Amino acid sequence: MVTIETIIGMKKTGEKIACLTAYDYPLAKILDEAGMDIILVGDSAANVFAGERTTLPITMEEMLYHTKVVCHAVKNAFVVADMPFLSYQTSVADAVRNAGRFLKIGAAAVKLEGAAPIVEAIKRLVDLGIPVMGHVGLTPQSIHAIGGYKLQGTTEQEAQKIMHDAEMLEAAGCFSVVLEKIPAQLAQRITEKLSIPTIGIGAGVHCDGQILVVHDILGLFQDFLPKYVKRYAHLGETISNAVKQYYDDVKKGAYPGKEHSF
Ligand code: KIV
Repeated sequence: MVTIETIIGMKKTGEKIACLTAYDYPLAKILDEAGMDIILVGDSAANVFAGERTTLPITMEEMLYHTKVVCHAVKNAFVVADMPFLSYQTSVADAVRNAGRFLKIGAAAVKLEGAAPIVEAIKRLVDLGIPVMGHVGLTPQSIHAIGGYKLQGTTEQEAQKIMHDAEMLEAAGCFSVVLEKIPAQLAQRITEKLSIPTIGIGAGVHCDGQILVVHDILGLFQDFLPKYVKRYAHLGETISNAVKQYYDDVKKGAYPGKEHSF
């Protein structure tokens, strides 16, 4: 079983950490059986599962449901639950109460976006034995302040802030940190500076691990394709062809056949 020690140890041995998101039982089971190190129940469920434009609307109850069904499937991977918008920013007590709910239903850790404004909450969670994954660079829960899903850390000043934030998260006790949509060189500098693993998404090859949204790599979410996503399958097309055949079969009376009847 993958533990927090396994993940931290992978930075030391140089073994890359493979992570994907999951939101439901069947996909989580496939990911786990494929050997994924970390499965993140991402608040990207708001986008690729629920069709929302941002991650802001997803609620604690919805994230708890996704986390619960993913945990039903996972036997080996380290499950991290994304804390939704306003479930940890409001107070340290809220952060503890809400993070604890994810651990009670089977998650091994939680992920929070940002640094300075939530550093007290992160320290408290870590003190209480709740592992925390940090997240800097593009932080989708702050999308309206950022002004769009654009590359972060493009000026030296911005780059220094992201580096500083990542160091702050390490000092606060995070066991790893997601670097989202930043230049590869900046991600390399952060990865070399930190002793905890960096997990990149749109942050180049030098991170200690990589994470992508599973619906993106499988071609299940087709509304748009970020530049950093590699498509490994075209399940949207496969499913579309399958359900069209079923539709035709029903219309023609070709389904059910004798073998499907009693
Ligand atoms: O919600 C999510 O899927 C994420 C990853 C993309 C890092 O935060």
